[in-house]
Amino acid sequence: MTFTEQDFRRSAAQIRQQIGDFQPEVFLILGSGLGFLAEELDNPTVIPYEEIDHFPTSTAPGHKGRLVFGMLEEKSVCVMQGRVHFYEGYSLQEVTYGVRVARLLGAKRMIVTNACGCVREDWEPGSLMLISDHIKLCLESPLRGENLALFGDRFPDMSTVYTPALAEIARRKADELGIALKEGVYMFFPGPQYETPAEVRAARVLGADAVGMSTVPEAIVARHCGMEVLGLSLLTNMAAGILNQPLSEAEVLENAALAKDRFSRLVRGCLQEM
Ligand code: HPA
Repeated sequence: MTFTEQDFRRSAAQIRQQIGDFQPEVFLILGSGLGFLAEELDNPTVIPYEEIDHFPTSTAPGHKGRLVFGMLEEKSVCVMQGRVHFYEGYSLQEVTYGVRVARLLGAKRMIVTNACGCVREDWEPGSLMLISDHIKLCLESPLRGENLALFGDRFPDMSTVYTPALAEIARRKADELGIALKEGVYMFFPGPQYETPAEVRAARVLGADAVGMSTVPEAIVARHCGMEVLGLSLLTNMAAGILNQPLSEAEVLENAALAKDRFSRLVRGCLQEM
């Protein structure tokens, strides 16, 4: 499924009918465990994904499927409460649909969060990581197909996907709040199976510090349309093969729950400065 300029415009217009002239400054995509932040907005307008044409609906556990508009830390935000993943069966164009709609609604900055596996043997599960860059060797690009010039160039530069000024805000805020924040490279895997130990070793050799099944398609599309991007990861587990134990979704969700206060304080802190 490829989308036309008209599709994106129509979805944005449908949303406009509900939010009036509200201008979201920051678009937030909340990964596992952080969805609750969407329930903390002041003056929220909630729009279920089903009510927006072409919007994919989220099937992943722990992900609600709705857009919430409102104020958070005195910033006007649009929150995607529940993201969609490639492994759910959606194309990368569908996975990233919301980013372009948010851009049409006026959002110029994006904060994207996720839960992911820790590749670094000298880090611990529960760590938070600022994404400095990413590796995506699997699958086609979410930008494959006709380039929509409305959004950006055919061959967009990816030298700085994650905006240095926003990274600096995150470092400073983490420091101020006394929250330890690692920094590293996130490598995208399509899932839904977790990686094999050999894949994790390969990721490490290639320069990855974390592995996960989201974020990168959205970051590419956001960068293409000129948005500034801040990526924050929660390392919920050691990646496959590092510990002598199988990975489980229960461990991921449990560690996401344990870190949610720290993670949300950091996200809120970053928003204050944006
Ligand atoms: N790998 C990929 N995705 C993940 C992981 C992992 O180890 N943990 C949470 N999401």
